Amino acid sequence: MANKVTLTYNGDQTIELPVLPGTLGPSVVDIRAFSKTGMFTFDPGFLATSSCESKITFIDGDEGQLYYRGYPIEQLAEHSDYLEVCYVLVYGELPNAAQKVEFEKTVMKHTMVHDQLTRFFNGFRRDAHPMAMMVGVVGALSAFYQDSLDINDPEHRKVAIYRLISKIPTIAAMCYRYNQGLPFNYPKNELSYTANFLHMMFSTPCENYTPNPVLVRALDRIFTLHADHEQNASTSTVRLAGSSGANPFACIAAGIACLWGPSHGGANEAVLKMLDEIGSVDNVPAFMEGVKAKTHKLMGFGHRVYKNFDPRAKIMKQTCDEVLNELGLRDDPQFQLAMKLEEIALSDPYFIERKLYPNVDFYSGIVLTALGIPVSMFTVIFALARTVGWISHWNEMISDPGMKIGRPRQLYTGAKRRDYVAVTDRK
Ligand code: SDX
Repeated sequence: MANKVTLTYNGDQTIELPVLPGTLGPSVVDIRAFSKTGMFTFDPGFLATSSCESKITFIDGDEGQLYYRGYPIEQLAEHSDYLEVCYVLVYGELPNAAQKVEFEKTVMKHTMVHDQLTRFFNGFRRDAHPMAMMVGVVGALSAFYQDSLDINDPEHRKVAIYRLISKIPTIAAMCYRYNQGLPFNYPKNELSYTANFLHMMFSTPCENYTPNPVLVRALDRIFTLHADHEQNASTSTVRLAGSSGANPFACIAAGIACLWGPSHGGANEAVLKMLDEIGSVDNVPAFMEGVKAKTHKLMGFGHRVYKNFDPRAKIMKQTCDEVLNELGLRDDPQFQLAMKLEEIALSDPYFIERKLYPNVDFYSGIVLTALGIPVSMFTVIFALARTVGWISHWNEMISDPGMKIGRPRQLYTGAKRRDYVAVTDRK
């Protein structure tokens, strides 16, 4: 592979740009010197632009591969657990036995939130969307945890990382409980991370609640599948917010806001609404005609990077099967409809030509519904799981001494210079 490219412009001028190789995946052309040409590059949506160097996650879209710190998602989903995946994403290596115990103990020791934080919820209507509450409450954490805001202090960054991983499930469950008009549940630190989340979601003061271990394992795997995904829209948002020096809680709130969009993390909620709208397999052909006419999209399908199966979708489908079996919902009509939609789409030239496959969101909503989690909480679950990915990227960026504030340029096609006209002289 050549280690430079030469660009010819303005007839006979040339500029040489270095080519930088990665350990995996495409090399990149380093265009930092490109402005010497007097021009900018132009790539709305960043279809061919890498925004940073990172060692955290690798995706091969053509092969449908996903590695967290080099470990294939299939192996982590089968052999690891979400808190161990958090350790891998934050620290870059699998923990040894002592590190694993210490990390879990530290995370589970900080699951409570400042008690005054509970008053924030009273300012919301009971029917507020949980993502609106997540954005507001997570953004407010900097008002309560002022001893972990100095982004240049590695110890402050470490405390903020632990606080976010520990407290995001507590806040997520509080959003659900507030929506339901139910009292908040305090965390139970003797439970596992994911069992504790289900406890905070579904325990009532009136009777004992013991999370089903099969469902705990399934949800824990769902957290793992959503933990990180390279430079997706919300992670890029966290990085851009962090590049200005904003505190980590504000950056994560920015990531939550971006994730909410239906083209991104809001897709899992949109898939369930789509399945409800389609209603039955009989209506699939007409729905598919609407997709091809571009009146609507097949939500949960397609991906900017994956032009093959999203490896997470395969694991999610297996998890869906496992949970529905455990709950005796094998014939769940939504699952049957989703599988029929997938079967039809994967054999239809429209989807084949565009390399549209199921993504992580296609089956996740069905599993979450079976776990008793309402549609409005689906993106909150995604945000809970992705917080570790966001904060790992934030930490990687802030730890880089060469970090610069992100400030893209533009192609300006607006009005040329013109003089102000007094209102009395305007037509
Ligand atoms: C996530 O980036 C990440 O890594 C995100 C994520 C993560 O973990 O962070 O993986 C999580 O966001 C998954 C994606 C969830 N979103 C959805 O399921 C919403 C439905 N999908 C689409 O909106 C779309 O596929 C995107 C947004 C995911 C990707 O959009 P792109 O890369 O801009 O693709 P595109 O719009 O250029 O599509 C190419 C063609 C177009 O048709 P033509 O103009 O060529 O005729 O495919 C069509 C699109 O219209 N197309 C779809 C489609 N997705 C793309 N047609 C129907 N249904 C779809 N879902």
